[in-house]
Amino acid sequence: MSAKPVDVKVDQPPIFETIQRIPDAVPKNQKERLALIQSLGLEKYIVELETMGYTVVPPGVGCSDEETQRITDAVMRILEKRTGQKYDLNGNGRETAYKDGLDAHNQFQLYYMLMADRACEDWLDNKVLRAIIDYALRGQAQLCSMVSFVKWRDGGYGNKLGLHTDSQGASPEGVLTLSHQVACNVALVLTPYTKDDGALAVIPGSHLYYRQPRFEEGIEEAVSVDAPVGSMIFWVGNLWHGAYPKVTDGLRLNLTGNFNNKAFKTLENYGRHVPLEVLRRHDKWFARTLGADEVYGWGEEGPKPPLIDQI
Ligand SMILES: [Fe+2]
Repeated sequence: MSAKPVDVKVDQPPIFETIQRIPDAVPKNQKERLALIQSLGLEKYIVELETMGYTVVPPGVGCSDEETQRITDAVMRILEKRTGQKYDLNGNGRETAYKDGLDAHNQFQLYYMLMADRACEDWLDNKVLRAIIDYALRGQAQLCSMVSFVKWRDGGYGNKLGLHTDSQGASPEGVLTLSHQVACNVALVLTPYTKDDGALAVIPGSHLYYRQPRFEEGIEEAVSVDAPVGSMIFWVGNLWHGAYPKVTDGLRLNLTGNFNNKAFKTLENYGRHVPLEVLRRHDKWFARTLGADEVYGWGEEGPKPPLIDQI
């Protein structure tokens, strides 16, 4: 004789509902994410991302010429505004009062670009960007940073290429394994990428080593990621990568989105720092990717509803 089921009244605080909410209007599992990849004709790029650790989505497939031009114009405006100097894509950079904290030679980074211009903000709506980032991070992506790297002649990490991975948080014991991708990047190429122009340097397949390169390891295996203006270069966080020194005149410019798994910290402050009017211009994917669904980080007052509930 089976026992009669007991009618248990579940008294769960609303905050749990928020934490356990399943995101709407996004692929719910890898099957649905793959279906989206197929509908956009991106299978080739996913195969490359999986096997090589990086892929180049050509201009016109990922970003239209208009989108690339709009972002280039925005980056040039922000460059001038933050440094107080007018720049020319074909000319070299120069010393200014602007300091990015890294103090590298002949290169610097412009941080926190998302809210600096609508063109950068709208880039997060790009459907190819979303599909590939969602596939790579299994729908758990958050924007970690959006940065423009500005480099000119002799800028770079020298012959050592500055090789590293962008995956952090793995424990030395392998308890937190890097076999699960925790980060993925996308760089929109705003000036031509060749080895002499200081392109991204990668070690194809190194994302399967699941560790950082040791000092000076991997330099001879590196290849240049050559790509025309308007390309979107995706690479997973585990890939060993750096950049070649620039030996030609003119700027090397990009806009780079770094995404990581929501369990990790972000480099730049989004979440509750993003004004509601920015979130209201876009959809829930945008809001979630900026951490507007975050409930953690409370003080004495305890948990409070996430920003996404106010959109
Ligand atoms: Fe990196």
